[in-house]
Amino acid sequence: MKENEDFKIDSLGNWKRTDTCGGLTIDDAGSNVILMGWVNARRDFGNLIFIDLRDRDGITQVVFDPQEDRESLEKARVLRNEWVVAVKGIVSPRLKGQENNNIPTGHIELKAVELKILNRSETPPFQLDGSVDVSETLRLKYRYLELRRPQIYNTFLKRHLIASCIRDYLNKKGFIEVETPVLTKSTPEGARDYLVSSRVNKGFFYALPQSPQLFKQLLMIAGFDRYYQIVRCFRDEDLRADRQPEFTQVDLEMSFTDEEGVIKIFEDMMVEIFHDILRFDIHIPFERLEYREAIDRFGTDRPDMRFGMEIKDITDIAERTDFKVFKGVIEEGGVVRAIRVKQGAPSFSRKALDELSEICIKHGAKGMAWIKIKEKGWQSSLSKFFKDEDKKSVNEKLDAEPNDLILIVAHKRKTACEALGYLRLDIAKRMKLINDNVYAFLWITRFPLFEYNETEKRLESVHHPFTSPLEEDISLLDSHPEKVRSRSYDLVLNGSEIGGGSVRIHNISTQQKIFNILGISPEESDLKFGFLLEALKYGAPPHGGMAIGFDRLVTIMTGANSIREVIAFPKTTSASCLLTDAPSLVDEKQLKELGLVIETTTGLEQKRDN
Ligand code: AMO
Repeated sequence: MKENEDFKIDSLGNWKRTDTCGGLTIDDAGSNVILMGWVNARRDFGNLIFIDLRDRDGITQVVFDPQEDRESLEKARVLRNEWVVAVKGIVSPRLKGQENNNIPTGHIELKAVELKILNRSETPPFQLDGSVDVSETLRLKYRYLELRRPQIYNTFLKRHLIASCIRDYLNKKGFIEVETPVLTKSTPEGARDYLVSSRVNKGFFYALPQSPQLFKQLLMIAGFDRYYQIVRCFRDEDLRADRQPEFTQVDLEMSFTDEEGVIKIFEDMMVEIFHDILRFDIHIPFERLEYREAIDRFGTDRPDMRFGMEIKDITDIAERTDFKVFKGVIEEGGVVRAIRVKQGAPSFSRKALDELSEICIKHGAKGMAWIKIKEKGWQSSLSKFFKDEDKKSVNEKLDAEPNDLILIVAHKRKTACEALGYLRLDIAKRMKLINDNVYAFLWITRFPLFEYNETEKRLESVHHPFTSPLEEDISLLDSHPEKVRSRSYDLVLNGSEIGGGSVRIHNISTQQKIFNILGISPEESDLKFGFLLEALKYGAPPHGGMAIGFDRLVTIMTGANSIREVIAFPKTTSASCLLTDAPSLVDEKQLKELGLVIETTTGLEQKRDN
């Protein structure tokens, strides 16, 4: 063999791949095939070389044996992991005892008769088999290598299947997919906009859509009746494990319907995708809770229903005691609420209880009181303030038995409940009370239409300003707007808000009234939403809809740990892409064309220096 021949890169020539690396079985024994893929592993026994050849479908063992072809054996000697090769060979049964029952191709191997090296690879910066822990920074920088891992590919295959299943379902139900603009105007969904500057109209900006909300309403006014779109949305907000700056929604809108119509479409959709993709039968109708009840019982509008530990009110009992802290809170209109941790007393040391107290403080409470229920009575600093019959009442209210732990927070209703809601979740995780094999769906309905923004000292929409008020609360719009409930619904799955929607306002005067309550002047509403107000004048049908956070749904359905795992090229928590280095500085010429001058840069200075 001539020098350097080993390293020759072959073109495909007229070789055509006949099979993939995951499909050959003993039934194919004797066939001549051509496989192409990456070298996953190589084992060199001198006169015999094995490689595991990998593609997205699986792994096939290839054996280079001088009895078949000596030249291929020599060529195979230089192969390294992640080199790309094509192998012509004969499918052969593996020797007795050498079978691998863990992979579908484990009973055969390919006896190579010819090898083409299609490309070489440098040694990857981390092991692709996932056997060694690697930092997320490195994995995201080389995301395309991480995506080569079969388990990760399978996540994206499942994501694709879920999307296809949703499309099939919605097509069947008479929805049509319509694309809406990406360069558009601000849609208020509660986050900041990403802006794109216009070159043609210097100083003017498009906003990337936080959702297609207004366009889908316009499509209803256009008479499209049933719209959907699997669509990218953009929101500049603080990122968390379940948030990305760009994410995908299954967005939908329907005319001539109400809450029940939309809810039914989504419940049936969930039944179909959980059955088709996971072979899991979920039961409908899903449980429903009004927002207020959800806060009272679980301290959150997205309760995880896979375990109990509901919040109970003990204000009336606390009021009878001599404990000044509780009495003070009650006098100021606050409440005393508690949860019971079944068999929790032995599991929580003082230190652990201090940690729980910290959680409450972090979420706005002043502190947390605790009671350990012993055979002989209470072990608690509260003990001396409660009479025996009041202790008994608390125990009864919380169904407490010996060894249980009671945790109490006194504060304004919402804060007390929210603090206990966080405790409930934290404790469930610590005590492993959550069954991962359960899908607990829940609708939260009738959110308040508005909430008070303390910083800006004004009301703002809980969902968005196009949400319809509940008919029976309309009379409160002028007198007590904060008491008005909306025709909204969120879908919660295992404690994650996977979707939200509402029946919309289709009447121009109501829409103007809502803008007015939100402190949006007629001039401002004209400037921002004039096109919608105009459209509402031309025969808008009653309509409503909803959007599912597709990435969140896929995260749960694939059992992924974070939303980043189910997005092919995700951003970090500082909203940057480690692979492409976006966002990046642009050159002066581009800025000039756009009429922009950059005054300050933050955070990315280092990038420029490097
Ligand atoms: P909403 O703002 O509730 O409603 O969004 C719908 C769903 O989208 C998901 N979601 C996100 N997922 C990942 N990263 C994010 N940053 C993010 N933000 C939201 C959530 C959420 O429930 N136009 C309305 C829908 C309607 O009224 O029809 C809307 O966008 O799962």
